[in-house]
Amino acid sequence: MSRIAYVNGRYLPLAHACVNVEDRGYQFSDGVYEVCEVRDSLLIDERRHMARLAFSLSELRIAMPMPAAALSVVFHEVVRRNRVRWGIVYLQISRGVSRRDHPFPPAGTAPSIVVTARNMDFAAAEKMAENGVAVISVPENRWARVDIKSVSLLPNVLAKQAAREQGAREAWFVDASGHVTEGSSSNAWIVTRDGKVVTRQADHGILKGITRTVVIEAIAAQGLTLEERAFTIDEAYAAREAFITSASQIVLPVVKINERPVGNGAPGLIASALRRDFHRFAETS
Ligand code: PDD
Repeated sequence: MSRIAYVNGRYLPLAHACVNVEDRGYQFSDGVYEVCEVRDSLLIDERRHMARLAFSLSELRIAMPMPAAALSVVFHEVVRRNRVRWGIVYLQISRGVSRRDHPFPPAGTAPSIVVTARNMDFAAAEKMAENGVAVISVPENRWARVDIKSVSLLPNVLAKQAAREQGAREAWFVDASGHVTEGSSSNAWIVTRDGKVVTRQADHGILKGITRTVVIEAIAAQGLTLEERAFTIDEAYAAREAFITSASQIVLPVVKINERPVGNGAPGLIASALRRDFHRFAETS
């Protein structure tokens, strides 16, 4: 079965799903994206992802190319046509096609829109969560507006590659003051020795993860204490637990940071419980 992508109004086999060479997403990474988990062929937290999309578009002054209700129809159709049971749906919107020139294109240039979806390996993901993953740290070298979910991901790509080359799943960005901001494609969390769950406040320095928002609700419901503040990499070394969150990884326990075991070196109880209970707090559509 060939995978199908939605491109500017048409559903096409992936091999024929093309964007123009003068698309500003391609030329300048002048665009934004969203990734939703698909579970039992349904979208997880679509409403929240659409709200963040509207924020990213508005910060970059790109027009929403179609009403949210129409976009929702496209999401579900792409999921259906690709027979996704568990996986992700990916949306990208760029400022559109125009002769390559840095300033915004002429008013009325239509934004480009692409939607793809794919299955992921559920058993492999569960196994990874049972074992926990390793992270490394890398210097924070991104721009100052990473709260916008833009497709400009070069530092993230290089950080992730560094992690993989060191046998780790994720890289945590650490700023000049020694504080962890977030992962290259996930939010970063620790549980302190006295049981407080800590994740950085959602300012311009991190992406305000949708998974993060839902996990915060789960933490409150379970009567745990949350601290939204920056934590240092040294605090992370001394933590009882650590974990990462993202739409595609849900809650993933971290058992090693820069080769040092976290806690007793096994996935933590709180991280595992949050992963288990996550979908009770998420919305399905
Ligand atoms: N990544 N921080 C960064 C830099 C991310 O790229 C992501 C998501 C997150 C977590 O956000 P959410 O919980 O809304 O997925 C945090 C997506 C999944 C990706 O790039 O594939």
